[in-house]
Amino acid sequence: MCGIVGYAGGRPCRDILFQGLRKLEYRGYDSAGLSVISDDRLELLHSVGNLDNLEAILDQVGDKGTLGIAHTRWATHGRPSAENAHPHTDCTGRFAIVLNGIVENYLSLRATLQDEGHSFTSETDAEVVAHLIERAYQGSLRQAVVETYRQMEGHFAFCAIAADEPDVIVGMRKETPLVVGLGQGENFVASAVPAFLAETRAVVFPDDGDVVVVGRETVEIFDLDGKRVERLIQTVDWDDEAAEKAGYETFMLKEIHEQPAALADTLAERIAPDGRVALDGLGLSAEDIRRLERVIIVACGTSYHAGLIGEYALERWARVPVEVEVASEFRYRDPVIGPDCLCIAISQSGETADTLAAMRLARRAGAQVLALTNIVGSQATREADGVLFTRAGLEIGVAATKTFLTQVLAVLLFALWMGDRRGLLDGERVRSFTEELRRVPALLSDYLEGGAEGQIEEAAARYAAGRFFMVLGRDVGLPVALEGALKLKEISYVPTEACPAGEMKHGPIALLEEGSPVVVVATDGGVHDKLVSNVQEVRARGARIIAVTSEGNERLAEMADEVFQVPRTDEMLAPLVAVVPLQLFAYYVAKARGEKVDQPRNLAKTVTVE
Ligand code: M6R
Repeated sequence: MCGIVGYAGGRPCRDILFQGLRKLEYRGYDSAGLSVISDDRLELLHSVGNLDNLEAILDQVGDKGTLGIAHTRWATHGRPSAENAHPHTDCTGRFAIVLNGIVENYLSLRATLQDEGHSFTSETDAEVVAHLIERAYQGSLRQAVVETYRQMEGHFAFCAIAADEPDVIVGMRKETPLVVGLGQGENFVASAVPAFLAETRAVVFPDDGDVVVVGRETVEIFDLDGKRVERLIQTVDWDDEAAEKAGYETFMLKEIHEQPAALADTLAERIAPDGRVALDGLGLSAEDIRRLERVIIVACGTSYHAGLIGEYALERWARVPVEVEVASEFRYRDPVIGPDCLCIAISQSGETADTLAAMRLARRAGAQVLALTNIVGSQATREADGVLFTRAGLEIGVAATKTFLTQVLAVLLFALWMGDRRGLLDGERVRSFTEELRRVPALLSDYLEGGAEGQIEEAAARYAAGRFFMVLGRDVGLPVALEGALKLKEISYVPTEACPAGEMKHGPIALLEEGSPVVVVATDGGVHDKLVSNVQEVRARGARIIAVTSEGNERLAEMADEVFQVPRTDEMLAPLVAVVPLQLFAYYVAKARGEKVDQPRNLAKTVTVE
């Protein structure tokens, strides 16, 4: 969480830093601030609330300074307040720092520093960093930062500036993202690429423990012993427009509409001319696949739901036992894992702290680890044996949409690939699925451009005042129901219960009252009849049914109050279309309730703390 951006160059940087923060606002938005070096002193500005509040007072900082750092915060230690907003400074006001992550040993560091006479002005863990730098400084900010880093425990990335060294920003990272942007006569450092995408696409991803010295003309990277190290310069292929709303009222709506393209991009070159699935970079040999006894999928939130769909597909097509685990639980269990296991870590950001910890645990126990992620250069890609990339492009909306759909596509492709390699699916069968997969982007595009959205918006307005939703599904429709419910919770704040339709009468049905809205994921498939019976049971309790069905299935139309028909496809591929009306429904319920869809309360896009 939290967004960091730094600039060193020839242009006045106050507004550049602010624009960078705007692009990172999805990472946290409870307070913000910046510090600019001007006339060899640090100018500082802090505000509470989202960036509009910082913008309103931005001119309190002069626009002369050409080097500075800025931060948008998602509170971990200390409530959102001006005092707790970054940048933090030392006792002398000569050093300023911004930090993303957690300094786990901050209490003991703080106590020692206080005993030595340092006085603190905030409740944060981050402030110790400024004081540690002050204590270590002997004329070199780089040396002081290294000295500070050595004393810090936890996972974090931070950047520091010093009034006495007005030409450099020094940054370091430990298990938390930090990326450098290389410009002409100017350079950037940030938590994520969008912060400087409008200025440059040439990027460097430093490693943990790298000391990054960002100057106006040069960027130098050192190891902890002061030796120069080289890191690859990469070009990111996103453009800045992708980080804008392109005419949509919110990023979430834009990203929902980008789903056909995201699917097509993720599919590109992954279907061979013979119709088989072609995946590379997985780090799995034929021998690995042969001796594989078990797959463990670890993930959080929406990515966990994609993992559940992977479970159905891998078991059905590759006949391999699969467990799907919430990473935050898995990492603290004592799971039975060994070299016969493949651990698939699903994380759109590749930076989720719990998922990374679960990956590490599996790796230490001898499992092979495959990361399924959307972000090139992310931590997950560095720690895995192989990577399967989704190609959703940048997702800004906190509520995941297009990254989910591409994760589902990727797990389906992987399951087909695995079933084929393990000799359990013949070529004809694989071909029939890949042909169908090829059709999905166009089906979805037609669906989104047709009248479906208007119908969903109208329906959402009818239910928006409700106090509660229940969402039901069976088989691969269950993860879709869970995901639809998560969307409703995240952005509309309406309490929502999702459960397997068959499990309802073991408890949750007691929640239903006359008129309770029940959303049912009821696309065609082997368990459709069972689901119809469950719908009857719910209806008999006076609930109102909102059904997602396959085009042409009129059976549920007679029982349901609202029917959202989605394009017909194979039942295993149906999640790729069935989740879309649920995303839109949650979106329009939230909108009708006047909620801020792109910045839901208490949430941040990337959860880099446990
Ligand atoms: O980046 P990740 O996929 O690891 O993120 C996992 C969850 O934090 C994420 O899916 C979260 O649940 C989203 N807000 C869902 O919309």
